[in-house]
Amino acid sequence: MIRLHAQFIIIVFAVGMHDASAQPIRLSPADSIARKRAADSIRSKTSEDYQDMLKQLGITELRPGANGNNAKDPHAANYDESKANPFPQLPDPLILTNGKKITTSKQWFTKRRPQIVEFFDREIYGRQPNDIPLVKWQVDEVIVDTIQGIPVTTSYITGKVEHPTNPNRKVQIKLSLTIPIGAVERIPVVMELSFPMPPGFKSPPPPPNVPRSPGWQEQVLSRGWAVAQLIPVSIQADNGAGLTEGIIGLLNDGNHRKPDDWGALRAWAWGTSRAVDFFESLPQLDAKKVAIEGHSRYGKAALVAMAYDARIAIAFVSSSGEGGAKLHRRNFGELVENLAASGEYHWMAGNFIKYAGPLQWSDLPVDSHELIALCAPRPVFISVGEKGDSWVDAKGNFLSAVYATPVYELLGKKGIPSAEFPKVETGFFEGELSFRQHSGGHTPLPNWPYFLQMANKYFSNK
Ligand code: GCU
Repeated sequence: MIRLHAQFIIIVFAVGMHDASAQPIRLSPADSIARKRAADSIRSKTSEDYQDMLKQLGITELRPGANGNNAKDPHAANYDESKANPFPQLPDPLILTNGKKITTSKQWFTKRRPQIVEFFDREIYGRQPNDIPLVKWQVDEVIVDTIQGIPVTTSYITGKVEHPTNPNRKVQIKLSLTIPIGAVERIPVVMELSFPMPPGFKSPPPPPNVPRSPGWQEQVLSRGWAVAQLIPVSIQADNGAGLTEGIIGLLNDGNHRKPDDWGALRAWAWGTSRAVDFFESLPQLDAKKVAIEGHSRYGKAALVAMAYDARIAIAFVSSSGEGGAKLHRRNFGELVENLAASGEYHWMAGNFIKYAGPLQWSDLPVDSHELIALCAPRPVFISVGEKGDSWVDAKGNFLSAVYATPVYELLGKKGIPSAEFPKVETGFFEGELSFRQHSGGHTPLPNWPYFLQMANKYFSNK
């Protein structure tokens, strides 16, 4: 490994994600106390921000979320399909708010799509401000390395955003980019919205003599494509306390949000788009071939990014569940009420909380099939796991893709050809909407080869 230059502090990125086998390092008593203080401060700031939002919304009572950990709880998560659809009527993506049906792709783009975007902006993910300062990208360090026999360079990059008047309010977006050495043409790039490795954790060494299947980065690199990893929490913290900081706090001068202001998912999606801007400036990359992938909360963010940025060519949306691809109107696993509670409301617009209190899921003006529809005609792969992933509601994710299909068809593309839920380890790959449920639990890993095969249909220069 050769370090070419080091201008700034080196950030060590997690090459894996959410590594379940990560080993905790023992903390000193002083470090444990400092961590506890930090956690207490996040809790109390989150509570203050949450209460402020409830007050703005005039909400005094909310329905509790589903409990995914205790089947005996009166509010235990439902996993019985016969009780999953209390509100079977979904908003029709092809019917305008005045009740008229649209029948052409022009009407979709000029009339219906803007209505759906406005609903997602106002009620679900919040509005992105117009006057966001420019991001200045800077390469901090370049490392020459070999990954599975492939010579590569990895650049560690910071995207700096400054407040026009307050130098204390700044954001530093962290991104890494790994490019195979020797590519002769512009190459596609696959970007993951990555979980950073928590400080104090390290991966254990691989067990000796056990053959290892290639990680997703190796699978991408061996196709001759570039790998990028974006760290969403460098854009916006993953808690309510952070809403007065990060890019959201930079734009609202550290004040609490208004009910239709953007939440973390929209902020992470904004950062994803800024990384695409950066890719457009690089001669090695083909910025018309940008794929993104995200898992779990970052699966939600990847879908939001794809819906809002037409430059993103294809998305791998892994186990995104409630707030992502799962239909809000489904009573299965995680619910609207969970996202509206103080641990997760920061992902959403404040207005979203109303649907767990005074209003019902059936009052939502849009549902998640319309978020997928906003991606049309571009390809989207919806991925879920079987055992260990029921919280995300595999079928609720699938049905979203099924009900987004009429929009893809209107635009001359293929969606999901059948509403019948496919067996585990099988799926649909014929159209621009793909779906596969693997048997590996809450992880994207088993579906990477399927996604890359799908991306290859669009990225190979045939
Ligand atoms: C929780 C949360 C999910 C989220 C997941 C994750 O389980 O309820 O909505 O997707 O965390 O991001 O890990």
